[in-house]
Amino acid sequence: MYAQLVETGAKRVKSLDEMSPEERAFQERIDAEIKIEPKNWMPDGYRQTLIRQISQHAHSEVVGMLPEGNWVTRAPTLKRKLQLMAKIQDEAGHGLYLYSAMETLGADRDEEIEKLHNGKAKYSSIFNYPTLSWADIGTIGWLVDGAAIVNQVVLQRTSYGPYSRAMIRICKEESFHQRQGYQILLDLMRHGTDEQKQMVQDSINRFWWPALMMFGPHDDDSPNSQQSMAWKIKRKSNDELRQMFIDQTVPQLEFLGCTAPDPDLKWNEERGHYDFGEINWQEFYDVLKGNGPCNRERIATRKKAIEEGAWVREAAVAYAEKQKQRAAA
Ligand code: 3HC
Repeated sequence: MYAQLVETGAKRVKSLDEMSPEERAFQERIDAEIKIEPKNWMPDGYRQTLIRQISQHAHSEVVGMLPEGNWVTRAPTLKRKLQLMAKIQDEAGHGLYLYSAMETLGADRDEEIEKLHNGKAKYSSIFNYPTLSWADIGTIGWLVDGAAIVNQVVLQRTSYGPYSRAMIRICKEESFHQRQGYQILLDLMRHGTDEQKQMVQDSINRFWWPALMMFGPHDDDSPNSQQSMAWKIKRKSNDELRQMFIDQTVPQLEFLGCTAPDPDLKWNEERGHYDFGEINWQEFYDVLKGNGPCNRERIATRKKAIEEGAWVREAAVAYAEKQKQRAAA
């Protein structure tokens, strides 16, 4: 696969003979499917790519709690409230696994979180859209976690050991997230009023395209993919993962009795995949630039949470120090 990337004139991928002996030995380890561990030598570019991707993945988990948190006090039943709270707590845990995996690369958690707050680091664009109805909580579980699952199941085989192991743990919880979301929509479509059924369709109309944007730009417009594929950080390209997601999601959409806001979405027997329309890339890059419906609100909320939680962290550090002194005495 690596040789193939080089032949296609892949962007920024060194050929073996351009590599130093260390880089060549590293690439041979990657190609031999031997996991890279924190203590192994690695090219700085590999380290920086992982810090970038894992930190932004962690930021996405933490910011992703906000749109859903908006509905905890308004869940229609105690059961739905408990499910939603459990899911949100899971996402917090996913963020912690991922920040810990990032720290094994020598990155500082506070510094990376500061980059999130000052706009230097990204988080998934999907979380910049508002949750306007209870159906959105179902759609986020089904579509957003569904898209995350497609990406993360493949990421379980990423070449960096701590990231791969974090993914294995996270994927076990994501399937519950997707299932509970789909169940919310199925209940509304099966037993809801006409208004509630319309609420579901409206929610899908608003989240369908932003969910497809979660897989990133087209492969040809992705500055990171070629190198990430050569280093097996990424195992499948953005477009491959997007297609996988669409192919598995459309039958679920039809089972719900709903439609997607895409007139070009149709099964292509010859390709053995669904054809679909073009994503609004202007919207995608506008949201990435900070001009989505909720970008400012999300970052302001995260900053406030960090400021208001400082005393908890200080108390925990003080307690840990005390425990250390007692143990040393
Ligand atoms: N939102 C925000 N930024 C995005 C994006 C999106 N949907 N898609 C791509 N980007 C950014 C990339 O980060 C990159 O910017 P950077 O170089 O400054 O980091 C730029 O757009 C170009 O994209 P590339 O395809 O070249 O970048 P990558 O090779 O990093 O691929 C990715 C992007 C597919 C998101 C990859 O980073 C990835 O797989 N990340 C891990 C999974 C992840 O972060 N998922 C986010 C959702 S997590 C989630 O949904 C939680 C769940 O529990 C609900």
